[in-house]
Amino acid sequence: MPQASEAVSGDVPARLAMSGVSKSFGGVAALRDVDFTLRAGEIHGLVGENGAGKSTLMKIIAGVHTRYQGRMTLDGHPVHFRSARDALAAGIGMVHQELSVVPDLTVAENVYLGKQPTRGGIVDWRAMFEGAREHLASLGIEVDPRARMGSLTIGLQQLIELARVLFSGARIVILDEPTSALSPPEVQRLFEVLRSVRASGRSIVFISHFLDDVLAISDTVTIFRNGRRIVSEAAAGVDKAWVIERMIGRGHEELEESYTGNIALDSKPRAPVVLAVRGLGAGRAFADVSLDIRAGEVLGVYGFMGCGLIELARALFGKLRPKAGTLAIDGKTVRLSNTAAARRAGIAFVPESRRSMLFYREPVYKNMSIAVLGRIGRLWLQPSAERAIARRHAEALSIRPPTVETLLQSLSGGNQQKVALAKWLTWPPRVLVLSEPTRGMDVGAKDDVVAILRRLRDEGLAVVVLSTEPETVLSLADRIVVMKKGRIVGEFAGEAVSKDRLLEAA
Ligand SMILES: Nc1ncnc2c1ncn2[C@@H]1O[C@H](COP(=O)(O)OP(=O)(O)OP(=O)(O)O)[C@@H](O)[C@H]1O
Ligand SMILES: [Mg+2]
Repeated sequence: MPQASEAVSGDVPARLAMSGVSKSFGGVAALRDVDFTLRAGEIHGLVGENGAGKSTLMKIIAGVHTRYQGRMTLDGHPVHFRSARDALAAGIGMVHQELSVVPDLTVAENVYLGKQPTRGGIVDWRAMFEGAREHLASLGIEVDPRARMGSLTIGLQQLIELARVLFSGARIVILDEPTSALSPPEVQRLFEVLRSVRASGRSIVFISHFLDDVLAISDTVTIFRNGRRIVSEAAAGVDKAWVIERMIGRGHEELEESYTGNIALDSKPRAPVVLAVRGLGAGRAFADVSLDIRAGEVLGVYGFMGCGLIELARALFGKLRPKAGTLAIDGKTVRLSNTAAARRAGIAFVPESRRSMLFYREPVYKNMSIAVLGRIGRLWLQPSAERAIARRHAEALSIRPPTVETLLQSLSGGNQQKVALAKWLTWPPRVLVLSEPTRGMDVGAKDDVVAILRRLRDEGLAVVVLSTEPETVLSLADRIVVMKKGRIVGEFAGEAVSKDRLLEAA
């Protein structure tokens, strides 16, 4: 069994120590005999495959999961939290993997959530706006406290949620994948905030699948695998290949390494255009977008958060009605007045927010067969066949756990994302539009997705991948267009391109 921590940093006291922690869900072990130490004033990175147990361990610390085996001490005193409120009162705050801000409230209300300043029993709005503005400014976040939360970029919302946890007085701040929706400048801003939090002696847990980020910001990095803590090590002494090898074993280093160099893009023989986009525009979101998407190619659309690519994706799937321009499939103009019309026209869509597409209280296999049922009707599909098909896809994508009867809600974040993709494998469409297809996935899962999309492409499918992650488009696309402020500003095809060149173009 691994020792409490190999990265013993001298005499810095343990702020939080867990020993022999195990946790199962319905008899299936999610954590096995885990020891974990968090020191005062450190940033502690947590990495591991989808389903490795990272969120589960942190939810125990944050009082979300209250039933578990093992012991936990805070500043040397035994603790067992009964609720998240309980943990917060002890100084532990967590920003969860899925945003939990209230989009219809103002920024200030979100910062003060549940504890607005009052005067004579009524909310003191002036004090609240002023307090929120000052607090955010102290973290370098310049934003109007009266703005509606939902009107801000996801990246800003994440920063504000972090501000709320810091504001609550937390001495231990847990961030579960805080950078997945941040643009590079926002990541830098977050890191500055984290460094200043660390300087004040508070401790931070940083969970991410972006190993570069983890190694750049962490003092210690801990690797989880299959519910166990494999090793904890000083981040300065290790590199990415070392981490990947311990996370999932050998064989995946290559893909990760390749992003730093040049990726050679294909110059495909000009296959027929399946989806033609001409002069598409939608108010302030994007304008004058023209694209040809060909059979047997993956077109990547890259840009920073807020560049309009999410809206463009929606327009391609009939979710957002464009104000100008046309769409044609196989040369015939189509009007996608809603998503059902898009599906009939042969366009399938995997959105960046899986929440809107998945049924959390249904088993995994039902979530996968829905795409088929829409076409051929439930009567035609035997339940046994339904499960068998689902099982095949679960295996192809290494979905964990592989039992397709599991309710979707009990899958880890990355595994839910795989289900969102798997639905379309049963009955491939003509055009597959994917928005952030690998968000939240571990390195191995990303490899699986790359392989599956290549296979679909080779079978003649036209694929569009829209992403704010340069790695995602570089690993998937045959051709890449770059979007900036709602317009296409560049295209890379038949040449070598690197992450740096993509970032520059955006
Ligand atoms: N509420 C739940 N009910 C049942 N099983 C659960 C629940 N939460 C997590 N699990 C299971 O526990 C295991 C660990 O999941 P966890 O969410 O901790 O993974 P993770 O390391 O955070 O993965 P990811 O990187 O995908 O977010 C998984 O097998 C998951 O399916
Ligand atoms: Mg998780």
